[in-house]
Amino acid sequence: MWGGRFAEGPSAIMREINASIPFDKALWRQDIAASKAHVAMLGAQGIVSAPDAAIISDGLDRVAAEYEADGVPEDWDLEDIHMTTESRLAELIGPVAGRLHTARSRNDQVATDFKLWVREALDQVDAGLDLLQRALVTRASEHAASIMPGFTHLQTAQPVTLGHHMMAYYEMARRDRSRFADARVRMNESPLGAAALAGTGFPIDRNATATALGFDRPSNNSLDAVSDRDFALDYLMAAAQCSLHLSRLAEEFIIWASQPFGFVRLPDTLSTGSSIMPQKKNPDAAELVRGHAGRIIGCATSLMVTMKGLPLAYSKDMQDDKPPVFEAASLLALSIAAMTGMVTGTTFRTERMRQAAELGYATATDLADWLVTQADIPFRQAHHITGAAVKLAESKGAALDELSLEELQTIDSRIDGRVFAALSVEASVAARSSHGGTAPEQVRLRVAEARTALGME
Ligand code: ARG
Repeated sequence: MWGGRFAEGPSAIMREINASIPFDKALWRQDIAASKAHVAMLGAQGIVSAPDAAIISDGLDRVAAEYEADGVPEDWDLEDIHMTTESRLAELIGPVAGRLHTARSRNDQVATDFKLWVREALDQVDAGLDLLQRALVTRASEHAASIMPGFTHLQTAQPVTLGHHMMAYYEMARRDRSRFADARVRMNESPLGAAALAGTGFPIDRNATATALGFDRPSNNSLDAVSDRDFALDYLMAAAQCSLHLSRLAEEFIIWASQPFGFVRLPDTLSTGSSIMPQKKNPDAAELVRGHAGRIIGCATSLMVTMKGLPLAYSKDMQDDKPPVFEAASLLALSIAAMTGMVTGTTFRTERMRQAAELGYATATDLADWLVTQADIPFRQAHHITGAAVKLAESKGAALDELSLEELQTIDSRIDGRVFAALSVEASVAARSSHGGTAPEQVRLRVAEARTALGME
């Protein structure tokens, strides 16, 4: 494609290091679509004759049909998907194929193809997160009143409802979706027509190609258009944050599935056994979601580091933009699907969760609050009195509400029999009815809003 100026061909090493076809063949659909939009515009503008434009367009359809049937051939000499397609087009339709590359460069071509690919990836993530949210909302509505210990420092803190816990992840997924949606709006400007870096003297119509490819408008600056990989970085950073949420959810399932916790039975379909220990059921899918988050975060880091020192406009380093994006996209899709399956298929051992809340002194704050509201004791003092009650209960191996009134009164005489109503885990969660609190009525409100937002009604 550039032999005119060279006396010798590339060495084997050059061919190998230069070849992006092993991975950028994933862009073939986008490459064909962008080329068809380009040649239609060249024809409409009279830059290429209408019959030639039609021959080229039909030829591109034939190349696409071959790729669809047999896959994309990998010839390192042709470097990338752009040259592979053009070379096959020339074999099929002859020298007229050479007119396709008028008023464009691989620099605007690759930016366009890659953007189209990332745009589709964004839409796929959004659909996956929609399913995950539905699963979370469904389980939350089943367990709006199921009580479990809430933790801080992974130490029992206050009772919460399992539905509330599930809805926390719904909120994270909601923000993730808005980050992807945001990225989609920002990226939707067409680089096509920026040519190598400076624009072109041919009378092209950039609005026409932008519209044909579903972009909102052409990009404003040709140097930026071919140098910009913000769209890939926006995607990767949103993906990294999303994977971090999935990893935290996975981590919770892993902890909950451990025998000392015993809060859940994970679905067999997302667990594995041990080849030596017959009793084992390991949470491998969740562990891999946790592991994949590390790789996805690595992908985002990788592309940032690739881009950070590049002068304008295109440098070949930018060919390395695609592997991290492709890798992150497939890892993220799998992770979302695995966690959706886990949320849907897990059995929650609600009796055990409730016991854990009772035995962990999770209602100590309720005792302190009761001393404030019913005995007019300042909170700091109430906190101290309650601490003494917990110490006494702990020494007897009892729950707080298993202490007798006499025992409680030895700690503070102002405590009376009404206190027991406040010490149950049910009373504790029911009391936390502020907006966004864990009370079942609040969880049901949030679930109803979420169902409406997701169109589940
Ligand atoms: N294979 C290249 C890539 O993926 C295509 C762009 C090549 N442009 C150039 N000026 N060498 O980035």
